[in-house]
Amino acid sequence: MAGTLDLFEHEPGPPEPIAEGAYLLRGFATDISTQLLNDLQHIAEAAPFRHQVTPGGYSMSVAMTSCGELGWVTDKRGYRYSPVDPQSNQPWPALPESFEQLAIDAAATAGYPQFSAQSCLINRYETGARMALHQDKDEQDLTAPIVSVSLGAPISFLFGGPTRSHQPARVKIEHGDVLVWGGPSRLFFHGVAPLGKRADHPLTGPVRYNLTFRKVL
Ligand code: SIN
Ligand code: FE2
Repeated sequence: MAGTLDLFEHEPGPPEPIAEGAYLLRGFATDISTQLLNDLQHIAEAAPFRHQVTPGGYSMSVAMTSCGELGWVTDKRGYRYSPVDPQSNQPWPALPESFEQLAIDAAATAGYPQFSAQSCLINRYETGARMALHQDKDEQDLTAPIVSVSLGAPISFLFGGPTRSHQPARVKIEHGDVLVWGGPSRLFFHGVAPLGKRADHPLTGPVRYNLTFRKVL
């Protein structure tokens, strides 16, 4: 049975270093992925996914929403964190317990024991959606790591270095994988390659979700 085999393919392994201070925790979230996806659907009912516009006027290919105290937003005025969803003027949905605990556990496993998330950005990738190389630098507290959880269809994650010209490593990321980067690699450039036409997962079909947990202030 394909489903049974799948369970064995994604057994969590030890943290794999991918740069200084950066680790890939393969399969770390697989066991609780059904709960995470269920909680994600509830968040998206309260704060629907939307394609935000960059300060340069481009509509992002990745659809986004947020939960937690602060949500990451962009529009023509710039990138920033907001305590309310600009679409509804209401606070973002609270961080579900499943999200909060996973972020703490993953950070601790990667060597960041003090982490607690103030914000969870939820990205939804459909076929062809991508994220250009960028740094996560809209946060005031750069001592806290970034915790990035992947659910659904696989994608190639691009993990670069301190400058844009640094050739990024291409890391295949699958359902349940968690990336944690901080310390010396906190401001490293990263992005994701376009989601492939044949990318698929039994729980999400041709869609990939990413949860990015951040301490902002
Ligand atoms: C991001 O860096 O903003 C998103 C990364 C991802 O979707 O894996
Ligand atoms: Fe990022």
